[in-house]
Amino acid sequence: MQTMKAIRIHAFGGPEVLVPEELPIPQAQDDEVVIRVLAASVNPVDYKTRAGRYPAVKPADLPVVLGRDVCGVIESCGTRAHNALRQGDPIHALLGRDRGGYAEYVVVKATEGTAPPRNLDPIQAAALPLAGLTAWQGLFDQGGLRQGQRVLIHGGAGGVGHFAVQFAKACGAYVATTVSGKDLDFVRGFGADQAIDYKEERFEAAVRDMDLVFDLIAGETQDRSWAVLKPGGILVSTLGPPDAAKARQHGMRGAGYMAQPNAAQLREIDGLVEAGKVRPAVERVFPLAEVAEAHRFLETSHPHGKTVLRVAA
Ligand SMILES: NC(=O)c1ccc[n+]([C@@H]2O[C@H](COP(=O)([O-])OP(=O)(O)OC[C@H]3O[C@@H](n4cnc5c(N)ncnc54)[C@H](OP(=O)(O)O)[C@@H]3O)[C@@H](O)[C@H]2O)c1
Repeated sequence: MQTMKAIRIHAFGGPEVLVPEELPIPQAQDDEVVIRVLAASVNPVDYKTRAGRYPAVKPADLPVVLGRDVCGVIESCGTRAHNALRQGDPIHALLGRDRGGYAEYVVVKATEGTAPPRNLDPIQAAALPLAGLTAWQGLFDQGGLRQGQRVLIHGGAGGVGHFAVQFAKACGAYVATTVSGKDLDFVRGFGADQAIDYKEERFEAAVRDMDLVFDLIAGETQDRSWAVLKPGGILVSTLGPPDAAKARQHGMRGAGYMAQPNAAQLREIDGLVEAGKVRPAVERVFPLAEVAEAHRFLETSHPHGKTVLRVAA
């Protein structure tokens, strides 16, 4: 049996529960492919899962390999793999929750992955799927954002936020975003029309009549957001559905959602990247062996953009 290196957790806890192991290389079934992973990005869901703070992963599910998005090269194909997915081709993907990308090989389903943009290296291409699809599905599927509308994005400098700012600008919306003072120029560089330092200024004093608030922060930030929406506006959150009673009380709508793998939407995002309208910002790259350090960095250092693991790139 051929084996590979992978990082698993056997218990919930701090970064020290991330342990390197030798596991069997997975096999492709039906329409799946097995990829040799070049890079995998680190997302907040990874450290929340590791810490036991992500309800979808329960103690009975352990041990698990973490890591939801990957870029790699197709190593082998299942018997019914889509014609477009051929051995030796590059691919990037948002994996379903049942597999992890902190590994040398992983199975990708046809509905999850597509060829990465030609103008990105594997590190940048691994940074795109989860954060990019979260931003896309939040703004467009949930929020129905259209050209000419006004959107406030809370947390515009983070992994999801910096894609949301760029997608909203690319669709022709007016974009305001809340960030730390150190990140004001970072989001302006992505085209934000209005960058608000949330530590210095109340966003209610800076914006109003928004069609959409895209909330990546929750708590008090979410609660205060009803005040800046126009009647009939919508508050979309990645952190659970906004309070339905409050939405009714304000005459607004609220929506919460979980980002889903979607190869077709990933291709649309890749098209914007190839057209030069969107670019992923990678703040730090760590070797796979330093995954615990990568978790500490993302969890505590207030980075902007994305954190990526170099597996073989
Ligand atoms: N539902 C889903 O499917 C889904 C998918 C992806 C992500 N998420 C969740 O969405 C959240 C954002 O994800 P991410 O990947 O973008 O995280 P991230 O990369 O850690 O970015 C979070 C950003 O928010 C900033 N921030 C913190 N407090 C803020 C505040 N009060 N106002 C404005 N900005 C603030 C942080 O910078 P400073 O600390 O320097 O201000 C950072 O730039 C996470 O909680 C994640 O778990 C959910």
